[in-house]
Amino acid sequence: MRTTMRVKVSLAIVLTALTLTSANAVPRDLQDVLHPANIAEEPPLITPAPASPNWLPTKTLKRRGIISDVTADTNSILSGLGSDIPSYVASGVPNFFQDFPTGDKVQSSLGLDEDQGWNLRFHGNVYKQPNINESKLDDLANIFLIDTSVESLPPPQASQARNLTSEIFVLQQDNQNVTFQLAPAPTAGASGEQGGGGAVTPSGGNQTIKFPDPTTVEGDFDGFVQIDNNGLSAGNTTSNIQRLNVYTQGDINGNATAYLVPESGLTVISDIDDILRITKIYQPKEGLLNSFARPFVPWMNMPDIYANWSRSIPNFHFHYLTTTPEQITRNYMDFIYKTYPGGSFDTRPLNFSDVSATLSIRKFLLEKIFQTYPKRKFVLVADTSNPDVMRDYPAMATEFPGQVQCIFLRNTSETDPGDKFPYDTSGFKDLDNSTYMFFDVPDDLTHLDIVNGQCVNSTIKQTVTFSTQGLPFGLSKSAGAPNFGVPPMTWVAAAALGAVVWMGLGM
Ligand SMILES: *[C@@H]1O[C@H](CO)[C@@H](O)[C@H](O)[C@H]1NC(C)=O
Ligand SMILES: *[C@@H]1O[C@H](CO)[C@@H](O)[C@H](O)[C@H]1NC(C)=O
Ligand SMILES: *[C@@H]1O[C@H](CO)[C@@H](O)[C@H](O)[C@H]1NC(C)=O
Ligand SMILES: *[C@@H]1O[C@H](CO)[C@@H](O)[C@H](O)[C@H]1NC(C)=O
Ligand SMILES: *[C@@H]1O[C@H](CO)[C@@H](O)[C@H](O)[C@H]1NC(C)=O
Ligand SMILES: *[C@@H]1O[C@H](CO)[C@@H](O)[C@H](O)[C@H]1NC(C)=O
Ligand SMILES: *[C@@H]1O[C@H](CO)[C@@H](O)[C@H](O)[C@H]1NC(C)=O
Ligand SMILES: *[C@@H]1O[C@H](CO)[C@@H](O)[C@H](O)[C@H]1NC(C)=O
Ligand SMILES: *[C@@H]1O[C@H](CO)[C@@H](O)[C@H](O)[C@H]1NC(C)=O
Ligand SMILES: *[C@@H]1O[C@H](CO)[C@@H](O)[C@H](O)[C@H]1NC(C)=O
Ligand SMILES: *[C@@H]1O[C@H](CO)[C@@H](O)[C@H](O)[C@H]1NC(C)=O
Repeated sequence: MRTTMRVKVSLAIVLTALTLTSANAVPRDLQDVLHPANIAEEPPLITPAPASPNWLPTKTLKRRGIISDVTADTNSILSGLGSDIPSYVASGVPNFFQDFPTGDKVQSSLGLDEDQGWNLRFHGNVYKQPNINESKLDDLANIFLIDTSVESLPPPQASQARNLTSEIFVLQQDNQNVTFQLAPAPTAGASGEQGGGGAVTPSGGNQTIKFPDPTTVEGDFDGFVQIDNNGLSAGNTTSNIQRLNVYTQGDINGNATAYLVPESGLTVISDIDDILRITKIYQPKEGLLNSFARPFVPWMNMPDIYANWSRSIPNFHFHYLTTTPEQITRNYMDFIYKTYPGGSFDTRPLNFSDVSATLSIRKFLLEKIFQTYPKRKFVLVADTSNPDVMRDYPAMATEFPGQVQCIFLRNTSETDPGDKFPYDTSGFKDLDNSTYMFFDVPDDLTHLDIVNGQCVNSTIKQTVTFSTQGLPFGLSKSAGAPNFGVPPMTWVAAAALGAVVWMGLGM
C-alpha cells in the first residue's frame, strides 16, 4: 500500500517567564508532562466504530447516538480493506490521553515560579494516509450521512465528504521522532488587524526543536518544551503576544502557528460550532451535512464582533477551545484562520474508553489554560446547545475567582426553533449577573466595553431561570423541582438517544 506520511500539529500554547535556567533545562517533574502516554499500552485493536460518533463536533454524547447503529457496517468495511491494514487502524480512538497533568501540575512541572523562559506546548499526531480508492472512500463516507449518499451530493460537497473521511481513516505511527523549526510569523488569521490575531512578529526566535519523546503507540505527541529565548521578548517584560511559525521537518502538512502569550492580559476562549460557524448539530441530519459535506459558513456577522475586539483591544489573545476531535482540526483551523482572528487551539483529546471522561474533556482543557495563566482574565463564549459548556463555564467563575471577566452564551433556541434540546442554567445561580449574558444575535455584543467588565447589553432581555430551560412549549422547570411539569415525551426521547450511544461506546 502506498502511504504518505503526514504530521498534523495543532496549536501551541505558551507559558511565560524569562531566561532559561540551563542548557538541559527540563526539570525532572517536566518528565511527567512530556510523557502523556505513560500508561500501559493497550493491545492493538481495530477501533473504527467510535470514529463515527467521535468526529462530530462539540456536542455531547447524548445526542450523538445517530451514528452508532452503523458500527457494524464500519467494521465490515474496514475488514474489507484487506489484511495489510495494521490492526491499529487509526480511527481517532486512542487511549493515550490519560494521566495528563492538570493545570497546576503543569505549572509546577514547568517550574513557572523559577522563571524558566518560554515553554511551548506542541501537540499533534503522526499518521499515514492509506491510498483508499474512491469507491471504497464513498462507502466509508456514506456511513456518516443520513438519508443521502456521497454520490448524490453536489460535487464540491462530495469532495469534502471524501476529504474528511480520509482524515478519519488514517494509520497512526508510533515511535516517530518529530522535529520542528520555529521562525517569526509575519501573519496568521483574519482579524482585520495587520498581521492578524492581535499578535506581533518577534525579531527572532528561529530555532530547531526536537520533541523529547517519540510518538506514542497511537502516533501522538503532546507536551511543553522550553524554547530558546533568542530574539524573543521575555514574557514578564512585554504585553505583546508574539507569533511564531512552526514547521514540522519532513512534512509540508505539519505547519502551525504558535502564540507566545504573556502572563497577564485578556484571553477570549471561544467554542466554534454554532457560535462561530453554523453547525446545527441539534438537527442531526443538518449537523452531519454541515460538518461533513458543506463548506463551513460563519454564523451571521460574528466575524465582525471578533474583528472589532482584535482591532480595538490591545494584545487580546484568542484561544479556540473546541471538543472537535483532533483528526479534523485542520479543517477547523483553515476556517478560523480565514474568517476570525488568528489564535491558539485546543481540540478534543481522543479518549473514548470512558463516557464520563469524554464528558469532562472541556473542563479539563479549561482548567489547564486557567491554571497556566493565573494572572490572565478570560472571556468565555459559546452557545446554549452544549451541556458541558452550560456546566463548565460558570464553574470556572467559581473555581477561579476573579479570572472570568465575561461569559457570553448564544441562546440557540431563541434564533433557531429547530433546537429542541433543553439546557440547564442552574450553574449560573450564584454568579454575579453582571458577568454573563445570554444573547440572540452577534449585534447584541456590539459596543460592549468588555475590557472594563461590561458584559451585559441592557436591551437584551434576560430570562434565566437557573433550571432546565428550552423544553418544548416554552416550559422550564422551576429551580429545585426536577421533573415538575415536564412532558414525559421529552425524557423518553433523551433516554433513547443516551442508550444508543452507550451501546456504541461499549463496542
Ligand atoms: C523577569 O524575570 C526575570 C527572570 O527571573 C527577572 O530577572 C526579571 O527581574 C523579571 N522582570 C520583571 C520586569 O519582572
Ligand atoms: C477499491 O478498493 C477495494 C479494497 O479496498 C477493492 O475491493 C475494490 O475492488 C477497489 N475498487 C476499484 C474500483 O478499484
Ligand atoms: C481516559 O479514560 C480513562 C478511562 O478509560 C480515564 O481513567 C482517564 O481519566 C481518561 N482521560 C481523560 C483525559 O479524560
Ligand atoms: C482536506 O481539506 C483540508 C482543508 O482544505 C486540507 O488541509 C487537507 O489537506 C485535506 N485533507 C485531505 C486528506 O485531502
Ligand atoms: C529517535 O531519536 C533517537 C535519539 O534521540 C534515536 O535513538 C532513535 O533511533 C530515533 N528513532 C527513529 C525512529 O528515528
Ligand atoms: C529566521 O527564519 C526566517 C524564515 O525562515 C528567515 O527569513 C530569517 O532569515 C531567519 N533569521 C535568522 C536570524 O536566521
Ligand atoms: C507549510 O509551510 C511550507 C513552508 O512555507 C509550505 O511550503 C507548505 O506548503 C505549507 N503547507 C501547507 C499545508 O500549507
Ligand atoms: C432563550 O430563548 C428562548 C426562546 O425565546 C426563551 O424561552 C428562553 O428563556 C431563553 N433563554 C435564556 C437563558 O435567555
Ligand atoms: C441582576 O440581579 C439583580 C438583583 O438580583 C436584579 O435587580 C437585576 O435585574 C438583574 N439583572 C439582570 C440583567 O438580570
Ligand atoms: C445591544 O444590542 C443591540 C441590539 O442588538 C445593539 O444595537 C446594541 O449596539 C448593543 N449594545 C449596546 C451597548 O447597547
Ligand atoms: C469594539 O470593541 C470595543 C472593546 O470591547 C468596544 O469598546 C467597542 O464599542 C466595540 N465597537 C463595536 C462597533 O462593537
